[in-house]
Amino acid sequence: MVNELTIVRPDDWHLHLRDEDFLPFTVNETAKSFARAIIMPNLVPPITNLIDARNYKQRIMKVLKTNLSFNPLMTLYLTEETNPREVKEGFVTGQISAIKLYPAGATTNSQSGVRNFEKIKPVLEVMAEIGCPLCIHGEVTDSSIDIFDRERVFINTVLEKIRTDHPTLKIVMEHITTKEAVDYVSSGNENLAATVTTHHLSINRNDLLSGGIRPHFYCLPVVKREVHRLALLEAVVSGSSKFFLGTDSAPHLDHDKESSCGCAGCFTATNTLEILAHIFEEQKALNKLELFTSINGAKFYGKNINTDKIKIVKKNKPTSFPEKISTPLGEITVFKPNFETKWQVQI
Ligand code: DOR
Ligand code: ZN
Repeated sequence: MVNELTIVRPDDWHLHLRDEDFLPFTVNETAKSFARAIIMPNLVPPITNLIDARNYKQRIMKVLKTNLSFNPLMTLYLTEETNPREVKEGFVTGQISAIKLYPAGATTNSQSGVRNFEKIKPVLEVMAEIGCPLCIHGEVTDSSIDIFDRERVFINTVLEKIRTDHPTLKIVMEHITTKEAVDYVSSGNENLAATVTTHHLSINRNDLLSGGIRPHFYCLPVVKREVHRLALLEAVVSGSSKFFLGTDSAPHLDHDKESSCGCAGCFTATNTLEILAHIFEEQKALNKLELFTSINGAKFYGKNINTDKIKIVKKNKPTSFPEKISTPLGEITVFKPNFETKWQVQI
C-alpha cells in the first residue's frame, strides 16, 4: 500500500484571493502547497486593466510570508470595452497569463462581464494570434434556462460558436460540472482544456440539498447529479492532458453564505491536496494525481513545470483541518466533504 507520495509542487489554475483584509489569509493558505495560481479578477471593481493588475499583484506579494514562495499569475476581466492592444501588451510582457470571460450575471461580481459576444471578437482575434488563453465561466445567464442546464446550453449556444470563429484560440472551460462538458472537452482539439475543482469531485446535488440546504456546498456552476461527478472523476484520473486542477477556492464570509440569499463559493485552499489524494487513492489512480495537479496545466499554459516537490503522506488516522479561518472581517468556513482523508501535505 502506498502511504507516501512525492509530486512536483502543484499549481492552482483558478483561484479567488479577494482583496485587502482577506489577502493575508487566502494568499498564505494557497502558498503553503502551491507554486503558482491563476488569480481571478472578479474584485469590486474588477481588474480590467494592466495598472490594476500590477497593483493587485503587489498587494498579494506584500502579504506573502517570508518563508514561502508563490507566483500569482494575473488575469484581466474581459468586458465589452477591453482594448486588444492592452491585452497584447500585458501578455507578451508576462504581466498577465490569461483573460477571464464572465457572461454578465453568471456569478459573483460578473455584472461587468460580456452581454454581446460579437463585441469581444477583436480581443479574441488578438489573443488567438499571441497564444493568450481565454478562461471561460461556461454558463448561460438566461433566466428561462434551468440552472442545472446552464453549462450544457452554454456549450451548444456560445462556446461552440466562439471555437468556430476562433479555431486557434486557447480556451480553458473553467470548473466543469457535467458529463456533457467532459465529453465536449475530450473530443475537442489541443486548444481546448478544462479545469476541475476539488468540490465538484467531492459532492453532488444531494449533498447540497438532501436533508437540509448546505450553504457551504453552494457554488457556481452548481453541483450536479452523481452521474456527472463520476464523469468528472473518470476524466481526471484518466491522466488526459486536457484536464487539470483549478480549485475555484472562493472564500465568502460565513454570514454572507449562511443567509437567505447566500453567496456561491467553496473555500478549499486549506485542504485541497489532502482531499484529492483521498479521491485519487479511492480510484486506484494515485499515480495520476501529479498530472492533474502539477503537469497538465503548466503544459497547456506553456509554462515551465515546477522544479521543487512536495510530499503527501498517509497517516493512520483522519487528518484534521481548521473548521474556520478567522479574518478581521469575520470567519470563513473551510470546505469539509462528507468523507475524511488520512492524507496530509508535509510542510
Ligand atoms: O462558486 C463560485 N464562486 N463560482 C464562481 O464562478 C465565482 C466564485 C466567487 O467569486 O465567489
Ligand atoms: Zn471562480
